[in-house]
Amino acid sequence: MASERDVRARLQRAGQEHLLRFWAELAPEPRAALLAELAPLEPDALREHCRRAAEACARPPGPPPGLAARLRPLPPERLGSASRSDPKTRGRWEEEGFRQIALNKVAVLLLAGGQGTRLGVTYPKGMYRVGLPSRKTLYQLQAERIRRVEQLAGERHGTRCTVPWYVMTSEFTLGPTAEFFREHNFFHLDPANVVMFEQRLLPAVTFDGKVILERKDKVAMAPDGNGGLYCALEDHKILEDMERRGVEFVHVYCVDNILVRLADPVFIGFCVLQGADCGAKVVEKAYPEEPVGVVCQVDGVPQVVEYSEISPETAQLRASDGGLLYNAGNICNHFFTRGFLQAVTRKFEPLLKPHVAVKKVPYVDEEGNLVKPLKPNGIKMEKFVFDVFPFAENFVAFEVLREEEFSPLKNADLADRDSPCTARRALLAQHYRWALRAGAHFLDAHGAWLPELPCSPPNGDPPAICEISPLVSYSGEGLEAYLQGREFQSPLILDEDQARGLQQQEP
Ligand code: UTP
Repeated sequence: MASERDVRARLQRAGQEHLLRFWAELAPEPRAALLAELAPLEPDALREHCRRAAEACARPPGPPPGLAARLRPLPPERLGSASRSDPKTRGRWEEEGFRQIALNKVAVLLLAGGQGTRLGVTYPKGMYRVGLPSRKTLYQLQAERIRRVEQLAGERHGTRCTVPWYVMTSEFTLGPTAEFFREHNFFHLDPANVVMFEQRLLPAVTFDGKVILERKDKVAMAPDGNGGLYCALEDHKILEDMERRGVEFVHVYCVDNILVRLADPVFIGFCVLQGADCGAKVVEKAYPEEPVGVVCQVDGVPQVVEYSEISPETAQLRASDGGLLYNAGNICNHFFTRGFLQAVTRKFEPLLKPHVAVKKVPYVDEEGNLVKPLKPNGIKMEKFVFDVFPFAENFVAFEVLREEEFSPLKNADLADRDSPCTARRALLAQHYRWALRAGAHFLDAHGAWLPELPCSPPNGDPPAICEISPLVSYSGEGLEAYLQGREFQSPLILDEDQARGLQQQEP
């Protein structure tokens, strides 16, 4: 193990010797822990990290000068649409996606290393229950969608197939996530096909470039952003694992979107048939100032421009069809070929520029007291998963309907958007729509049919509660066999047992 002298010298070189200021007070065990944490920090890289953080923070906020003139929407040839294409074309994409899944060429990769500070729970977000009648967690919904899509692909092609699930975690989420999966028997997936790996951490820094101590014996470390994926793939030899399994296409997604379609055959098929190496699902922006990144081009190069970088005037611009010109909201649902990921990890990762997130970071003051700041006091540097888009040789975007595919869980319930309540409503409203489309009727307390109104979350609950297990239907398919012409009291919880029972009865 490195000695105190070594570590002190390295910290001096990085301008960070204050990290040992409580050394004299520490007992042997905390001393060892602190040294173990500090020893891997390479002095020049640490100095550079702190310099960049302070420099980025000093930059004036708002859109970078001159950006507006360099922006263009994606050209139509790079854009597909699930909702605006005809059923035959969609069917062709879906068929291709299922074919690749049946050939065991598709994997899903979950980004689950975030700390979920806005939601404010002490455990990983994937373990959260938004209050569904079934009490399922986000992880369980995702696992069941994997099982269902494997089953659908297998049935179409008369084979058994596997969609491996890669789960990127961080120091904060790995332990509890692994334990949760074990406790739930991997949600009946084969544990050999669930691969968890850990992303790196970076120190949080003050506005003047000093690493923050969160305790006398502990540096404030934070995961290096979801773009830490690329280093983590390399650190843990994940691409080699994919190669061994024959995986060629990877669907990368965020943990918090309750409607996420894992390994979506339509999206996969579209990207594969377009010959894309990199793709992003997008949804129409809800309103011009909506705080989502926009998929567009800068100097002809596809990328995501953050909402804070787009001026209100640019955000308001309209296209000739009356819609917003910069309309393609990024929803962190990406397609990558393994070849592209390989090129990124080998060549492009060092070119990714970290972003600055200004956060409240608990720290110890000069007297050694723990302070929980009320105002942001620190900088976390993060890379973003989408920052690799400019390196793609053939980038495509694929537009999907928000109400079918995107409802993220970001905030606690008091917030009016992206909360457990809006996520639950989005899922239940979707299942209610699916049930009506399959010919179900819901009854009120007096036995009369409830109105078949389309309900629009997040503003309201659907007229009846209907939750459909992903094991019964992945995206609304196949429900007629159970629901056509039948009447149901709310709540209807359509799981596999219930579905079997209904199938055996006459409507
Ligand atoms: P967010 O940017 O919403 O962050 O992550 P978060 O950590 O979940 O929540 P806040 O900002 O602290 O409230 C979007 C996705 O990226 C993952 C998250 O787990 C989520 O799926 N992520 C984020 C990582 O995998 N690693 C990170 O370092 C950060």
